[in-house]
Amino acid sequence: MSGPLPRSLLPDTAAVDDTGRLAIGGVDVLELVERFGTPLFVYDEEHLRARCREAVAAFGPGVAYATKAFLTTAMARLAHEEGMQLDVATGGELAIALRAGVPPADLVFHGNNKSSAELAAALDAPVGRIVVDSFDELDRIEALVAEGREAPRVLVRVNPGVEAHTHRFLQTGVTDSKFGFPLLGGDAERALARATASPAMELVGIHAHIGSQVFDVASFERAVAALAPFVAAHDLEEFSVGGGLGVAYVVGETAPTITEWATAVRRAVAEAGLDVAVLAEPGRAIVAGAAITCYRVGTIKEIPGVRTYVAVDGGMSDNPRPVLYGSGYEAFLPRATDAPRPRRVRIVGKHCESGDVIVDEAMVPEDLAVGDVLATPVTGAYGHSMGSNYNMVLRPPVVFVRDGRARLVVRRETVDDLLARDLGG
Ligand SMILES: Cc1ncc(COP(=O)(O)O)c(C=O)c1O
Repeated sequence: MSGPLPRSLLPDTAAVDDTGRLAIGGVDVLELVERFGTPLFVYDEEHLRARCREAVAAFGPGVAYATKAFLTTAMARLAHEEGMQLDVATGGELAIALRAGVPPADLVFHGNNKSSAELAAALDAPVGRIVVDSFDELDRIEALVAEGREAPRVLVRVNPGVEAHTHRFLQTGVTDSKFGFPLLGGDAERALARATASPAMELVGIHAHIGSQVFDVASFERAVAALAPFVAAHDLEEFSVGGGLGVAYVVGETAPTITEWATAVRRAVAEAGLDVAVLAEPGRAIVAGAAITCYRVGTIKEIPGVRTYVAVDGGMSDNPRPVLYGSGYEAFLPRATDAPRPRRVRIVGKHCESGDVIVDEAMVPEDLAVGDVLATPVTGAYGHSMGSNYNMVLRPPVVFVRDGRARLVVRRETVDDLLARDLGG
């Protein structure tokens, strides 16, 4: 027997009525499904805003929202309205942030393989900071500035050689990584020397992002300690610890708050005797818990003595995290939010892959039936943004709810959208 879904896994404004029905932002979730169909991403706008405000209060105005976690023009505007800068990591993310009206000076441009075209777009904007990731990129910036563009302010991304406790694919701060200049072996030192000497850029700081879904703030403290001598030796103004704070996805997990993370990072910086502006780039911690995904149950297949498969109308195209990282999720019924969940099933999608699993071992209410709306919580990060058209499945819409009102911020994809780039030939 497994208990009801813990309320802590639902968005901040989630409320359950006497009959067990779930509302978010004062809007009944099943009514949203009636209106917008399934699959559907429902985001609690108040939750998003509260996390942005918490990040700004904890780190100060230089803190940036990592847009890779979830980006629409509405989200970009919301984060900026709440005082955050935005981290963009490709020309596409840059274009969306600019289209949203975010001032370029409040953008931080990332990427391990920025093309000349992307760098030119960033310089022409011009963005507030570029986080330099390779010697080739230094060459490209110098060439673009030689064409008459203004020298950008840059941070150098240093790889501290710290193993964060997270999935191997989510670790970025170990020496064997495609990101940044390794501290070990002297590349970081050489990159800083080059950036300092180059008239084509103004070096303002050091950046390090050790990984994602990191639960242990000690990993960040170790990264700060590893980099402190380096930061001190170069007398730089800014030190960004990147993003990576983990969030709880399933029963039994707990994660530090943004405030606790910032407190630990700031303490480590102070203990290292550094006098720098501490910056950060949370993505997941801002958006993950703000959303649920609603699906419709289409088939239930009981294989005696083996398991029960519950298939829904989405899958790896709206949430590839279980396939990519083996990530766990919970499931529940918005019609009976607080119901006990005694039945063990595997929730799968509709794609032509055996690996198309949403929840490997889900506990669900006994009376789960075909036609039910089934929801997975904590799907606000790296679901919509990592979505795909695999099997030509139409990507779901995104709805923001707040104060009893719902606004559609991304419409459902159509067959015409699927065909828009297909030239027939
Ligand atoms: C450079 C950088 N900053 C910030 C982030 C955001 O990480 P998270 O969403 O785990 O906070 C990432 C994620 O990959 C990143 O690569």
